[in-house]
Amino acid sequence: MLTILGYGAALPARIVTNDELATMVDTSDEWIVSKTGIKTRRVCVDETLTDLAYSAACEALQRSSTDPGDLGLIVCSTICGDFTSPSLACCVAERLGVSVPAFDVNAACAGFLYAINAAAAQIALQTKIKSNFDGSAHGDSKKRILIISAEMLSKHTDWTDRNTCVLFGDGAGAVVAEPGGGLRYIKTYCFPNREVLYKADATSSPFASYDIPRGYLRMDGQRVFKFAVSKVGEMLDGMMNSMSLTPNDIDYFVLHQANKRIIDSARLRLNLPEDKFPTNIERYGNMSSACVPILLSEMWEKGMLKKGVRLFMSAFGAGLTAACCYYVCD
Ligand code: ACO
Repeated sequence: MLTILGYGAALPARIVTNDELATMVDTSDEWIVSKTGIKTRRVCVDETLTDLAYSAACEALQRSSTDPGDLGLIVCSTICGDFTSPSLACCVAERLGVSVPAFDVNAACAGFLYAINAAAAQIALQTKIKSNFDGSAHGDSKKRILIISAEMLSKHTDWTDRNTCVLFGDGAGAVVAEPGGGLRYIKTYCFPNREVLYKADATSSPFASYDIPRGYLRMDGQRVFKFAVSKVGEMLDGMMNSMSLTPNDIDYFVLHQANKRIIDSARLRLNLPEDKFPTNIERYGNMSSACVPILLSEMWEKGMLKKGVRLFMSAFGAGLTAACCYYVCD
């Protein structure tokens, strides 16, 4: 399937503390920390989403010694593109000065794993038919794929709604991958449901028989919470059964950073130590699909992703989407 060669991340400079939010809505640092684990988040001020995505991409390219000309494909996941079209992937291709197939995936917080799945599918396709994803042999540098997850949830947030505005942040993570044996298992899911809604910014069409909604993110937090707690467990059980693994065979559980209590419930269910569940939610909040690749980049920087390290990754989000994978660092 696919092996990751390099990791990158980019965050906007502006830090928003819980105390600052308490001057904007009726909330407190104590409530936010105890209910979510979030202490600060980053928000874009001057940065565009393409800026963040490009910075994360450059770091992943540099860390994998990949020249942009070695890329055969760019896949982005986002629900916050600077434009509906061109896609974020096309905007990044333009910045990198490359002309390769490029497209976006919209799977909300599960988007990074959906993008990994799409990249792995492209690799599999290449072995079956002649597709425009260039290259031929394993290790051929033209087969390198840039996968970016970039989100600017600050632009979808209703900053007067305390139920949601304390939860989210902006950021981008990226990986460079190529055909290889690191990815051992991947599954993507959709459980259609409108408990999390991001309304489009479109204006009404004079031809539409209904009002096209305009507005912000709305969420039934408690129902999403229950969905997440049960699905993370089910996805892990499914992966372990299928791969004949036990929780002790996993070195790190790289989970979507939506709420520290969701991560803790997964950990307590498995009775595993906290250091197997790395987090960055306390610093960045929920950055939708960017959470997992940013966390991977931080783990790489700390030397945690050495050859042979076994990772279970999972995420869930609006859709409701969910995804998980088993990855062995190579
Ligand atoms: N500050 C103070 N009080 C608040 C705040 C706030 N920021 N937000 C809500 N409250 C209040 C509520 O109004 C409610 O008050 P009430 O009892 O008087 O009505 C009270 O706190 C309790 O609210 P609950 O909703 O019961 O709190 P809960 O324990 O469920 O925590 C939370 C809420 C943090 C949103 C939690 O449900 C959660 O994390 N859900 C999951 C969200 C998620 O995972 N989203 C991912 C999908 S989003 C995506 O795809 C990007």
